[in-house]
Amino acid sequence: MMANLQLTSTLRPSGEVEIALAESAMPEPGEGEIVVEMIAAPLHPTDMGLLFAAADPGTAERVTRDGRTITVLQAAPGPAMAQRRRWDKALPVGTEGAGRVVSAGPGDEAQALLGRFVAIWGGGMYTRYRKLRAADALALPDGTSAAEGAAAFVNPLTALGMIETMRDEGFTALVHTAAASTLGQMLSRLCEQEKIGLVNIVRQPEQVELLRSIGAEHVCSTGSPSFEEDLLAALRATGATLAFDAIGGGRLASQILAAMEQVCAAGGDFRMYGSDISKKVYIYGGLDRGPVELFRNYGSVWDVGGWLLFPFLKRIGPERAERLKQRVAGELKSTFVMTYSQRISLQDVCDPEMLRAAARKATGEKYLLNLQR
Ligand SMILES: NC(=O)c1ccc[n+]([C@@H]2O[C@H](COP(=O)([O-])OP(=O)(O)OC[C@H]3O[C@@H](n4cnc5c(N)ncnc54)[C@H](OP(=O)(O)O)[C@@H]3O)[C@@H](O)[C@H]2O)c1
Repeated sequence: MMANLQLTSTLRPSGEVEIALAESAMPEPGEGEIVVEMIAAPLHPTDMGLLFAAADPGTAERVTRDGRTITVLQAAPGPAMAQRRRWDKALPVGTEGAGRVVSAGPGDEAQALLGRFVAIWGGGMYTRYRKLRAADALALPDGTSAAEGAAAFVNPLTALGMIETMRDEGFTALVHTAAASTLGQMLSRLCEQEKIGLVNIVRQPEQVELLRSIGAEHVCSTGSPSFEEDLLAALRATGATLAFDAIGGGRLASQILAAMEQVCAAGGDFRMYGSDISKKVYIYGGLDRGPVELFRNYGSVWDVGGWLLFPFLKRIGPERAERLKQRVAGELKSTFVMTYSQRISLQDVCDPEMLRAAARKATGEKYLLNLQR
């Protein structure tokens, strides 16, 4: 066995962010636990959030300190202060990944996984060996590789979670922004399968084509002069009054609410406080870290909130969550298929040029870490 290696990110009170690979002890499984030899893990926007600690990747450089070569970035004083609870803590990075179970502690559940390929999540996945409770692993179906199962949790469960949330809250259709993302493509396939109206909002013409090519019916580009009209037409056609917004900063959430209100109020009498139909935007991502601007030109029955996968799974309870996970496992090669533009090593994650490229979070540019290189 190779020595264990772990990728960590440490924010210093000075605002310096240190990204480093450190050797660590080989994990030993206890009762009900397994050790997974990690093979593959995706580099998601959320992983970059933890890695960069809001530092500008443009500042990344390789430096040698205490005989070790590490990567250092510089965060601005405001964000560094806002994250002081993580000062001087070497945080392990990597939300999810997949590999092979190489040792298992006592207990039937753990022993049954020995030798199996599993998808796992829970942080610290950018490592060679990761220990966890057997109950938290998802056994991959025969014939599914670790690379195919490496991103089985975050995006698939979020896409499913949007639909579950929509139904739980009595909505019937959805709006989604940054919709050409890998998550957006999954949501588009899901909505098509389940005959749910979906308004996809993107920002470039090629993303309109991409989503149409996988069957999306309503795709509006903020880069198009007809965006407002296109959005209104799509909202009229679908009746969507619930949006999931991955962007956050800026005016888009407000524009969506205003368009929803225009559709909801159309044809009715004048009402001082607007229509009484509930309109809601969940901001579930931070692709733009700027302030959210709300113009409040959409009556009084509206809501803007945050949405996060983990509290959602907690709310729906273990049985319902397990059903969603099993659905994902069965559709990893279809509905939830992931494509990667680059395969990189653990060492590559410390390369300043690689970090700058990944930080663009551009459509079709998802990176997969090969953790055995
Ligand atoms: N809340 C949760 O629990 C949860 C769970 C999973 C994922 N997420 C969030 O879901 C989002 C999508 O994740 P992913 O892995 O699917 O992403 P991805 O595949 O890396 O795609 C990112 C997409 O965002 C677009 N984009 C990037 N910066 C943008 C900006 N400033 N304004 C508008 N569009 C922008 C890109 O389009 P361009 O090519 O035009 O740049 C691209 O289509 C992320 O924000 C992630 O954090 C949240």
